[in-house]
Amino acid sequence: MFKNLFATHPIDAMPEVEAGEVVLGDAHGVHGDPTLKRALTAKHLVMLGVGAVIGAGIFVLTGTAAAQFAGPALVISFMMAGFTCALAGLCYAEFAAMLPVSGSAYSYSYATLGEVVAWFVGWNLVLEYLFAASTVAVGWSGYFNELLRMLSDWTGLTLTLPPSLASAPFTFNAAGHLVATGTLINLPALLIVAAISWLCYRGITQSATVNAIIVAIKVIVILLFLVVTFHFLNPSLWHPFIPANEGGATYGWSGVIRAATLVFFAYIGFDAVSTAAGEAKNPQRDMPIGILGSLVICTVLYIAMSAALTGLAPFRDLNTPEPVATALNYVLGTVAAGSMASHILGVLKILVVFAALAGLSSVVLVMLMGQPRIFYAMSGDGLLPKVLGKVHPKHRTPYIGTIIVGVIAAVLASLFPVDVLGDLVSMGTLLAFTTVCIGVLVLRYTRPELPRSFRVPWPWVVCPLGAAACLFLFWQVFTQRWWLILGWTAIGFLIYGFYGYRNSKLRRSAA
Ligand code: ALA
Repeated sequence: MFKNLFATHPIDAMPEVEAGEVVLGDAHGVHGDPTLKRALTAKHLVMLGVGAVIGAGIFVLTGTAAAQFAGPALVISFMMAGFTCALAGLCYAEFAAMLPVSGSAYSYSYATLGEVVAWFVGWNLVLEYLFAASTVAVGWSGYFNELLRMLSDWTGLTLTLPPSLASAPFTFNAAGHLVATGTLINLPALLIVAAISWLCYRGITQSATVNAIIVAIKVIVILLFLVVTFHFLNPSLWHPFIPANEGGATYGWSGVIRAATLVFFAYIGFDAVSTAAGEAKNPQRDMPIGILGSLVICTVLYIAMSAALTGLAPFRDLNTPEPVATALNYVLGTVAAGSMASHILGVLKILVVFAALAGLSSVVLVMLMGQPRIFYAMSGDGLLPKVLGKVHPKHRTPYIGTIIVGVIAAVLASLFPVDVLGDLVSMGTLLAFTTVCIGVLVLRYTRPELPRSFRVPWPWVVCPLGAAACLFLFWQVFTQRWWLILGWTAIGFLIYGFYGYRNSKLRRSAA
């Protein structure tokens, strides 16, 4: 009965493509339907990567990771997560340059490991993109409320939102049950998702341009933070670098590893560059630049930021939802009130709130751009309804998918405490990374003749090591939250059984 579950999508050598050109073998376009637009340069792609990566991970999660798990050794946790992502990033670069289509890990798995694995990966990418967008929108709402509070303090006016509109109406209580909070809606989260979805609907060029502006703001403020606070670093706060274990995963090496699984979230997004492969002007050359370039920039900034934060304030004091502002507050407490230093630090604190808002917005933007493009690829293969593959005749965006994704993300972000789903997002992403690492090796073996403009160096070492590193981090989270990912997978396979299995174009053509 279950025939051809592991049939692989045929792939042809991809010709060099030029701006605006339809890619041969792309299910859309060859029949004369509108296609996605090839408008993105290497610079856009690097900006998309940095836009998707730097966000809640550094502006929200670092504090908890340092205070509860790693201490100053958070730097090592960032290196571990960065190393894992670098291995996966090399594999993504090879695939994205060779198969410049919008389906990312889903399409790579379909070409190498078969339909059922591809479905599993595509379903997990929903966690990475759609759920991450909602999660980060909730973080954005927190910073936005903070900005309104600051503005109210300065101006003496009441600019804050009524509490009933400022946070989610549901939350999980200590026993893990969903309970009402008494509020109506998380309005800022709803509005940011709506505004960004509209931008994604309007066009890839508009989205990439806005993203580039936002990325410039957040990177400049992070660099400013590093330069200004350099003079206030207190190296004694880095001793002991790995505090003694206090039980469980609090400090010691077990804490460093636990923190690595947490800050892995901070790296999620560099792979979103690959969902724009169908819209890159010169994917063969620019995809590796976009993926690996953004990864290198973010890794350097993360390591510098984690060293700075733990060198500015005692790591135990960083356990807040806005650790960057907390570290600045700590330094402000050590300088004379009214002094030049206190003015500079005060201005920096305001800039940090703006940078956080900018950072979180660009993450939501790239995630909301990526998800409809994966659905577009899945719909082209018949695994999801055709409507998700519709491209707007004027804007050349997968507009119906963009609207559907926007509505779901807005509902999740405005009603539910989706910030608790960070672990689920990381698990889904790690599984996708694992299959990409394995897929590169499989394709090297099954289709060695395909032209590859970028090749993973030492694939027999890098690919298995990448897969093992991803599985290792996955396992750390899985042992604590296995029911989440198993539940998600079960729902996914039900949908596949009822829809994808029956409508798969590949299996139909083989039947
Ligand atoms: N890497 C993204 C963030 O940290 C998901 O917000």
